[in-house]
Amino acid sequence: MTDKMNIPLVDLQANYLSIKSEIDTAIQQVLKDAAFIKGPYLESFEQHFASFCHVKHAIGASSGTTALHLALLSGGIGRGDEVITVPNTFIATTECISQVQARIKFVDVQKETSLMDLDAVEQAITSKTKAIVVVHLYGQMPDMQRVREIADDHDLFIIEDAAQAHASEWNGHQPGFYGDVATYSFFPAKNLGCYGDGGAVVTNDSGLAEEMMLLVNHGRTQKYEHLIEGYNYRLDALQAAVLDVKLHYLKDWTKKRRMHAAVYNEVLSDMVEKPVENPGAFHTYYMYVILSKNRDRLQQFLQKKGIHTGIHYPIPLHLQPAYQSLGLGKGSFPVAERLASQILSIPVYPELTEVQQQYIVDTIQEFFISGN
Ligand SMILES: Cc1ncc(COP(=O)(O)O)c(C=O)c1O
Repeated sequence: MTDKMNIPLVDLQANYLSIKSEIDTAIQQVLKDAAFIKGPYLESFEQHFASFCHVKHAIGASSGTTALHLALLSGGIGRGDEVITVPNTFIATTECISQVQARIKFVDVQKETSLMDLDAVEQAITSKTKAIVVVHLYGQMPDMQRVREIADDHDLFIIEDAAQAHASEWNGHQPGFYGDVATYSFFPAKNLGCYGDGGAVVTNDSGLAEEMMLLVNHGRTQKYEHLIEGYNYRLDALQAAVLDVKLHYLKDWTKKRRMHAAVYNEVLSDMVEKPVENPGAFHTYYMYVILSKNRDRLQQFLQKKGIHTGIHYPIPLHLQPAYQSLGLGKGSFPVAERLASQILSIPVYPELTEVQQQYIVDTIQEFFISGN
């Protein structure tokens, strides 16, 4: 067996070094122009990102979290409305529901894909339901055609939380096609990440775009003229300039992630459950997530061998102290709970080398062969 290696879950340094000169030039340019807020760098990225996503409008936001808040506000979701979403996500997905004083209504997920169970969505709809926040977890989208049909039947607003799904597709369509609004995060570790916090909302609806363009920038129509009260949720120009450079590489990086996933799918033993890619979905593998009943020991073993892994996410939201008031105890969402105890994210980042990946595969095999 090869000597011990040190493999991070995501290698942001390797990523930066692979495009260093372009990034450095872009940052220098913003500094020289002293164009830090709004302006040409933000406009350029917004145009390029909209075109990449095949949507009419993209609006930069200060994070994926503020992007979600903008999306709910644009949908007119407010006090007393129910919003359906899943418990196996990052808390930002649900924080925004509470921020607009709406009620979170969790539904369980599908065992095979970890994605929203659409039968459960249909059962959860009441006269108070106003929106669905669909989470494209790990880079995979559920059957968005069906989500659209359910929403149309019940007059619901669809928000796609695409924080983990840059370049992902359902039936050839990226987030923002089936949904009314899709939101992105550009947190550094994301498939398209900046060097700080960043996000965006995308939509094909010009009315919603106009509303969000106002909200993101203090309700401002022009300098010191405010049509409504809004927020300071802008994406700053330095991040936009970085993202504009990185966007050129997103397709190639996605290809590499998918190649690594294909290798894992082929060579990982049947001792772990591997991620299932739905026919119809183009999975972009923000995370490659395996399932094992021995997850904790496997994670410790890999850690000792220098392989860093993650758990996305260890505590489903309905069991978080923050949501105790919802009164949803253990057993409320059995699939999400089982997943939380068995999931393990292993390195799948684009810069992962063949030798590193082989070491990861060998180490996982070693764990199971040694009877752990
Ligand atoms: C599913 C999901 N939604 C929302 C967010 C929030 O994004 P940000 O960290 O940019 O606010 C994240 C980020 O981790 C996420 O994974």
